[in-house]
Amino acid sequence: MNRNDQVLMTERFVRQNMKGYDSGHDWWHIERVRNLALFINKMEELADPFIVEITALLHDTADSKFTKENGDQGYSLLDNFMEECKLSRIKDQVITVIKNVSFSSKIKTGDPDDHLLWVIQDADRLDAIGAIGVARAFNYGGFRNNKIYNPEIIDNDVFSEDDQKIGTASTISHFYDKLLLLKYRMNTLTAKKLAAERHEFLEIFLKQFYQEWNFSTGKNL
Ligand code: ADP
Ligand code: NI
Repeated sequence: MNRNDQVLMTERFVRQNMKGYDSGHDWWHIERVRNLALFINKMEELADPFIVEITALLHDTADSKFTKENGDQGYSLLDNFMEECKLSRIKDQVITVIKNVSFSSKIKTGDPDDHLLWVIQDADRLDAIGAIGVARAFNYGGFRNNKIYNPEIIDNDVFSEDDQKIGTASTISHFYDKLLLLKYRMNTLTAKKLAAERHEFLEIFLKQFYQEWNFSTGKNL
């Protein structure tokens, strides 16, 4: 099996595996992350492009938020696939990155100087900002039945007088919890440059959003 066959087999595995995911995490997210990762790596020359491509393709397949299996089962599926696909040589390296790539990852086992992690993490984070990031955030908010915005809360969670959590996050609050922070979390210079433009778009979007939201007050006239 040559590298080209291994990439094609991996694509097939990922498409099959991600069918139950929300549409912000679908095949097209994978395709965008692959393109971003390959571009960043080309500019920065940090890792073997083949390993970058395989890791980008697989980076969300074991996500316990979306697989019916628990996290470990997701990883054993991945493990089996990589053995089958004759990718044993790079298996440990790829799985370590996948475990550490998520912004919300609780399993921080990896080496912070892992160049492959830098590239994949940057690509995944870039796809959460800019116009695509806005679209994905509102898509995810809809999937979770969250409000688009709640001007009565600044914080993510709403509590009752006796301190019970009674509300859920709005998608606009997710901008402050995560999206607006991502440009400061980029590892590579190439990603920092790409993030600057995408971050600016988030700011423009929010400005316009609040302007329209406050229209009835007459402030904009
Ligand atoms: P990670 O890649 O760190 O696992 P998530 O799976 O949490 O990230 O996020 C994937 C996508 O869903 C991103 O585009 C993110 O902005 C969006 N998202 C996650 N949580 C929320 C939320 N509470 N509201 C709106 N969008 C969200
Ligand atoms: Ni992802």
